[in-house]
Amino acid sequence: MTSKRRILVVGRNGQLAQELALTLPTLGEVTCAGRDAADATQPAKVRSLIQDLRPDVIVNASAYTAVDKAESEPQAAQALNVDAVALLAEIAKTQGLPLLHYSTDYVFDGSGTQPWNESDPTGPQGVYAQTKLAGEEAIRASGCAHFIFRTAWVYGHFGNNFYKTMNRLAREREELRVVADQMGSPTWSFMIALATSQILAQGWGSGQLFEFVHSRSGVYHMSAGGACSWFDFASEIFRTDPRAAEHKCKKVTAIRTEEYPTPAKRPANSVLCNDKCDATFAIRLPTWQQQLALVQAQVQLKSPAQ
Ligand SMILES: NC(=O)c1ccc[n+]([C@@H]2O[C@H](COP(=O)([O-])OP(=O)(O)OC[C@H]3O[C@@H](n4cnc5c(N)ncnc54)[C@H](OP(=O)(O)O)[C@@H]3O)[C@@H](O)[C@H]2O)c1
Repeated sequence: MTSKRRILVVGRNGQLAQELALTLPTLGEVTCAGRDAADATQPAKVRSLIQDLRPDVIVNASAYTAVDKAESEPQAAQALNVDAVALLAEIAKTQGLPLLHYSTDYVFDGSGTQPWNESDPTGPQGVYAQTKLAGEEAIRASGCAHFIFRTAWVYGHFGNNFYKTMNRLAREREELRVVADQMGSPTWSFMIALATSQILAQGWGSGQLFEFVHSRSGVYHMSAGGACSWFDFASEIFRTDPRAAEHKCKKVTAIRTEEYPTPAKRPANSVLCNDKCDATFAIRLPTWQQQLALVQAQVQLKSPAQ
């Protein structure tokens, strides 16, 4: 009898970690270790967790994701996005474990209007993006078997995100001003978790997960299809909200990035081309509008509009 596969998810209360906790159990025994159990900045704790658990794969859903705060806390961002990732990669390499990791569309400088390919030159604009890119480089340098999934504009029912903020503000304010000159692809956290599970299932289905990951190691873009601005996304959230009757907001105004200054600079165009993921795994996420419709359908199911 083969023993049950063990999956370690680093992260527990984050947006993606909570979705992985829903999608991965079909594949094996899942341990989600948040900062209490696996403080990624305490190497000894992480090492002993992995030694005790003896997972078959590590999925790293932890990160320092506060884009603006990172500008004033570069050491904290470096500790989690680079040093902790390098540690996981070193352990993965030493123990022959595949490492699945997530990165960001913000590694690009935002120039041009074309979707970015995995081979395009990077140009991170702020501390968060710089540390995420350095984390990618640490994984590559370790030589471990890995997939790095670059995703974008992540939102969903868990954690803090733009979708939840817009829902709250629509009920609190009469007018909203939203940036309309940054283009990206809002991606539902559940879709990323589902695609991760499908890719792992393919790996295990091949009979040799390690070899499956090792032979395909690299960066894969994994974001929703299509593209929009934050203003477009907010407008579509409001238009499709099953509880729109609760909105106090009567007017949404499109503004330019300069009118909403933030500590961290953001790319104007961070749309990703997802062809490599499709060509390698036959997985392509639905369009951002289709994903949002599914998220709103869940809201409708939980609390039907009167
Ligand atoms: N959010 C976005 O818009 C976005 C966009 C592009 C790419 N991404 C990438 O997608 C991935 C998942 O992001 P997310 O939105 O799910 O992030 P999130 O909601 O901010 O969650 C961050 C996770 O990191 C964990 N964490 C924080 N400090 C830790 C520490 N010291 N030790 C161990 N774990 C720690 C948290 O642990 P606890 O469970 O203990 O809270 C939490 O699970 C990240 O790699 C991120 O860079 C996100």
